This record gives sequence, C-alpha cells and structure tokens, in this order.
Amino acid sequence: MYEAFYENSGLLFPSMVESIHIYHEQNPHKTMPSWEKIFREHGYFFLNPHPDITRLAELFKTHGVKRILDIGCGTGRHLVYLSRMGFQVDGFDSSPHAIALAQKWLDEEGLTATIREHLMERSFPYPDMSFDAVISIQVIHHNLINDILFTISEIVRVLKPRGLIFIAVPVLGPKPVSPEEDWQFFQVEDGTYIPQSGPESGIPHHYFTEDELCEAFNRFETLEIYVDSTDHRCLLGFKRGNKIVTPNQR
Ligand SMILES: C[S@@+](CC[C@H](N)C(=O)[O-])C[C@H]1O[C@@H](n2cnc3c(N)ncnc32)[C@H](O)[C@@H]1O
Repeated sequence: MYEAFYENSGLLFPSMVESIHIYHEQNPHKTMPSWEKIFREHGYFFLNPHPDITRLAELFKTHGVKRILDIGCGTGRHLVYLSRMGFQVDGFDSSPHAIALAQKWLDEEGLTATIREHLMERSFPYPDMSFDAVISIQVIHHNLINDILFTISEIVRVLKPRGLIFIAVPVLGPKPVSPEEDWQFFQVEDGTYIPQSGPESGIPHHYFTEDELCEAFNRFETLEIYVDSTDHRCLLGFKRGNKIVTPNQR
C-alpha cells in the first residue's frame, strides 16, 4: 500500500513519515518538490493579499510594528503589500522559484524586502527577538505536527515580547464535496494527510481544529480566532510575557 502511494505521489521511499525527512535531507535545494513545481508551472500563484490585510496593517501600525517576518512568503503578495505600507519586511520560502518571482515583483514596484530560501522546520536564520510581528498565510500546516511545533517555537524565539502573529491555515470540510476529497488524502498521523493526487500531491497538510490551534500557540494571547472569507482558520495574537525561548538547534 505504501509502495503504491509513493509510486503515485512520486516520492519513492518505503516509509511514509520518514520519507518526508529523507527527502529534505537528500534534496540539494531542501525544497518541497511540488510547490517548486507549482510555481514553475503557474508563476505567480496569488496576486491579491489576504482579505484582512488592510485591517492587520492598521493594527500593526497602532501597535508600533516596524519589522515583519512573512513565513512561506511564496511569490510575494504580502511582502509587496506590507513593504508598500512602509514596514521593514523579511520573508523566506522553500521554493527558489517563488523567491525569484517575489524579488522580481518587488523590484518592479521599486520596493524592498529581504527574502531568502529556507525551510520552516529548520532553525530560523534570525537572532532572538528580531521581529515585531510574524505572519504566515496558508503555510505552517504543510508539515507533520512535530515540525509544525518546532516552527512555532522558532516564531516565539524571533518575536519580540508582545510581538504580534497572524496565522492562516486551511479548514477540513464540512462542505459535502470538498476539494480535499478529490485529492485522495492519505492519513499519516492524527490530523495530517498527504494528497495522492491533485496539484499539491505529496505535500503534507495538517488540519488544525480551533482548540488544537490555540493549544499549539499557547505561548500567545489570542486576540481573534475565526474562519476568513477564503475558508481558512485565522489566529491573531501576541506573544505572552518576555521570557526568551531557545529551542535545540537543528
Ligand atoms: C499556499 S502557498 C502560500 C504562499 C504565501 N504565504 C501567500 O499567501 O501567497 C504555500 C507556501 O508555503 C511554502 N512552503 C511549503 N513548505 C514549506 C517549508 N517547509 N518551508 C518554507 N516554506 C514552505 C511554499 O513554497 C509556498 O510558497
């Protein structure tokens, strides 16, 4: 069964969970294969920023936010918007092609942001308390839960005390025929599935319940948790206290 799955998905490793890690170790660019493929085939993926970005930018201004990190910045729709709004913006993504497209877009608009290739399940390449806010829109769910929890610990580390976060992740169901059903999801752990077909074939998707998302971000005070107009679960919050967390280096 596993062999059949891997033949279908293009990931030719015997153990499903292990294979995700092995893939990262062996891939010279340490890149999710399918996202790089998606960007190479489709170019700019999203052009309009998240529907709540105007409200968020206003909140960031009110809270004195200056420097923002965009985790999984993709082709740059939020880098461009936030840079245009006068914030100092950093971003990273696993896809070199997405980064190149984001840089092109910024250059065309005469805007600046510091972007690099990086995997979110690796130690972030920034010192402690570098950012006033972190956003990650439709990204952090693309991993197994242990890796997601590591990513969250890195968000805590690089955020300043009382720094703001805005996270958006997809919601599974409850539409009668969800697009996910067509993707032939294969469950690899509680709440984590890998589609066997469709554009995101081979990429893990963890589906957070509301409670689980709050628990995963329990180092944050939740200001809002809601499902947005694009059917993604959003969490807006700020980092509690001022204790510095230094997770084990990877
Ligand atoms: C749905 S796209 C969202 C892109 C962007 N946040 C936006 O809203 O336009 C998901 C993004 O996550 C990136 N990604 C997936 N896995 C990643 C990983 N392990 N580390 C860093 N980025 C990753 C993909 O390359 C892709 O750009």
